[in-house]
Amino acid sequence: MNPIAIVAAMHEELAALLAAMPDEHRVRVAGREFWLGHLHGQPVVAVLSRIGKVAAATTATVLLERFRARAIVFTGVAGGLAPNVAVGDVVVATRLLQHDLDASPIFPKYEVPLTGHARFATDTAISDALAAVTARLLRKPAALLGQTVVDDFGLAAPKLHRGLLVSGDRFVSTAAESAALRRDLPDALAVEMEGAAVAQVCHDYGVPFAAVRTISDRADDAAHADFTRFVAAVASRYSLALIDAWLRTLAVPA
Ligand code: ADE
Repeated sequence: MNPIAIVAAMHEELAALLAAMPDEHRVRVAGREFWLGHLHGQPVVAVLSRIGKVAAATTATVLLERFRARAIVFTGVAGGLAPNVAVGDVVVATRLLQHDLDASPIFPKYEVPLTGHARFATDTAISDALAAVTARLLRKPAALLGQTVVDDFGLAAPKLHRGLLVSGDRFVSTAAESAALRRDLPDALAVEMEGAAVAQVCHDYGVPFAAVRTISDRADDAAHADFTRFVAAVASRYSLALIDAWLRTLAVPA
């Protein structure tokens, strides 16, 4: 059976995933290392996307053309935009949009020219399953992270959100910029730099896509503070735990 692709945005996440794969081996394509193996009996290909929309689109295309991935799941971090989306919460995307794409007046703002779409839908079955395992994990954050980390980052009651994730080629790190995004895209939950590009590639190929992001910052003037520590202590552990829990729910191929 064709593999499920797990695309991680950060090295720490990928390392955690590889450590859980008993038989991983590496194939190098386009300067990237694709790790093939099994997790809970599922054939898996895991890769670092690198950062930004073009890097992510290249990675997705190789996953589909070369490795024949049957679905792509993206994990990583994002900056919270909606008022109730806090650091330590998790967003499972229902749709993704490129917030820095604007070919108006030839095409409507945000629309990917010649596709007729601005918002690309994620796969409902995979997203529902990811949301279910995430909700379960978030009920007991200390079991996953330890009480010290929960106290340090104030993560006593992390929430699951589902909705619009927006992507663009910029790390949003001023209150002015995140306020502008909130004004222009009031239903956007969070911002990152890759997801909508992968969603577009998967749409072109007709392959299911899902994205799950841990909120690492509020996309404001403090966005860079504690980022690295948060990724290592919180986001990479969430990612591994929820991908692991999701793969366990799938039927093992014969
Ligand atoms: N990924 C995590 N935080 C982000 C931010 N503030 N802007 C863009 N991508 C992010």
